[in-house]
Amino acid sequence: MPCIRPLAKKPQRRVFGRKTGRPLKEGRQVVLDELLPFLQIPEDSLTEKANLNPETLFATPYTALWLEIGFGNGEHLTALMERHPDHAYIGAEPFVNGMSAFLKDIQDKPHNHIRVHMDDAMMIANSLTDECLDGIYVLNPDPWPKQRHHKRRIISPANLDQFARILKPDGQLIMSTDVPDLAEWMVTQASLHPAFEWTAEKADDWRTPPPDWIKTRYEGKRAKGADKMVYLIFKRSAAL
Ligand SMILES: C[S@@+](CC[C@H](N)C(=O)[O-])C[C@H]1O[C@@H](n2cnc3c(N)ncnc32)[C@H](O)[C@@H]1O
Repeated sequence: MPCIRPLAKKPQRRVFGRKTGRPLKEGRQVVLDELLPFLQIPEDSLTEKANLNPETLFATPYTALWLEIGFGNGEHLTALMERHPDHAYIGAEPFVNGMSAFLKDIQDKPHNHIRVHMDDAMMIANSLTDECLDGIYVLNPDPWPKQRHHKRRIISPANLDQFARILKPDGQLIMSTDVPDLAEWMVTQASLHPAFEWTAEKADDWRTPPPDWIKTRYEGKRAKGADKMVYLIFKRSAAL
């Protein structure tokens, strides 16, 4: 197993961005009140002791399990669920408006294979059992451009330790960004980690989206850096 740093005794919240925004419209509040309690992962199962077996979260079996960290309004996650009904997903998004938008989108669609967490994704990562995930998406994470805030970035040596622990051998860590400094940071951090291998063999492998790529809302906005988007696919080494 990869080198694992000691875990904190109590779940720690490390969310630095905003958690609330504009007031919610009624329909969005209703899904938070009525659907969220059924889909959220019980807080008492988040002990950060690596003892949350994800199979216990789903009533029906699944063929693969993925975690999406910081799903925003959830368009990417919704599309994945529609595309792969046999896969199960855990989505983490602390922003209330994002969570409510996602829940509203899926309320009338099959949602037996989704569980959510409206808080820091690392509470989930630190609690899951070893080698239970087929993949992790970290799409357009907050860049935290100031040097003194770099320690807030979700891709860090300590968090990569946890991702390596919960990914299956050959499991994928898929990251994207249009922020060049963050792209370089993520490539460096993941490449330096002994448990991860970059799958890219040529520049086009990270400059162009993989086949069947689902654009996130952020990417779809074609923000000022859209032409700088990078798609970074790392694989957890088979042998650690
Ligand atoms: C720039 S947005 C990108 C949203 C979405 N992935 C997309 O591409 O459209 C970054 C998201 O990460 C979420 N986030 C920030 N810190 C987080 C954390 N510790 N755990 C989970 N999500 C987090 C934010 O609330 C925000 O919605």
